[in-house]
Amino acid sequence: MRWILFLTSMAFGASSALSPALAAQGNVDRGQRVFGACAACHSLEPDRGMTGPSLAQLWNRKAGSLSSFPRYSSALKSSGIVWNDKTLDDWLKDPQHVVPGNAMTFEGIKNDQQRTDLLAFLQHATQPGHAAAQMGAMGGMGGMTGGGVPNLKKPDPEARVQAITYCGDTYRVTTGDGKMHAFWERNLRLKTDSSGDGPEKGSPALLGAGMMGDRADVIFAAPGEISGFIKQECESR
Ligand code: HEC
Repeated sequence: MRWILFLTSMAFGASSALSPALAAQGNVDRGQRVFGACAACHSLEPDRGMTGPSLAQLWNRKAGSLSSFPRYSSALKSSGIVWNDKTLDDWLKDPQHVVPGNAMTFEGIKNDQQRTDLLAFLQHATQPGHAAAQMGAMGGMGGMTGGGVPNLKKPDPEARVQAITYCGDTYRVTTGDGKMHAFWERNLRLKTDSSGDGPEKGSPALLGAGMMGDRADVIFAAPGEISGFIKQECESR
């Protein structure tokens, strides 16, 4: 019995010194943790673009070819790459070396084992029907913000914006919990999200207030709403 355990642990030990050629044998669970470095920019759900394109059904896809992603660089589109174990390993090691001038602001993963594990996870999670893997990866991020996008259709009261006033250099944002947040105008970012995760028309959401304190985002359903929503008005206190 002890002998068998010994043999098993020998085999296990050896597997941690994999060469990149054995990418398929990386550790999926460890790879899922490595994916935490990608999840802020990439969804595994088909056609759900974020900062970067969806990675669903990545294997054997031509680089820069998703019609659901309108922001590919011409460098990536004209690279002629088809994604597989080898091309992904090269890309993830040093993206700017493989496709100079591409738009992915990511320095790469230099650790061979981490890339092997990541590829094992991706190979599994990018197959049709594996979108749920994204949620698991998010959980592994230890509560970091910036991963994924919260759905803003039904925001919590503290995120539901009821009114915004503008006076001098200050925006005052009143939220559904009755609180008023004051921001220096250079610290409040006004954004839009027209996707299914975005807010309802005329019901913008406040994100990020309270965490860092001085900066936050208000996200509207469409750009046309923004100036009409904000009332030029000074407090008379
Ligand atoms: C800061 C955001 C960001 C991070 C972090 C990031 N990416 Fe990207 N990624 C992008 C963008 C933007 C593009 C499109 C690049 C272009 O068009 O030049 C891209 C492109 C890609 C592509 C090509 C997809 C296609 O459709 O051709 C792959 C594969 C990829 N990323 C994988 C990853 C993986 C895996 C990680 C984590 C190790 C990662 N990326 C981290 C933003 C990011």
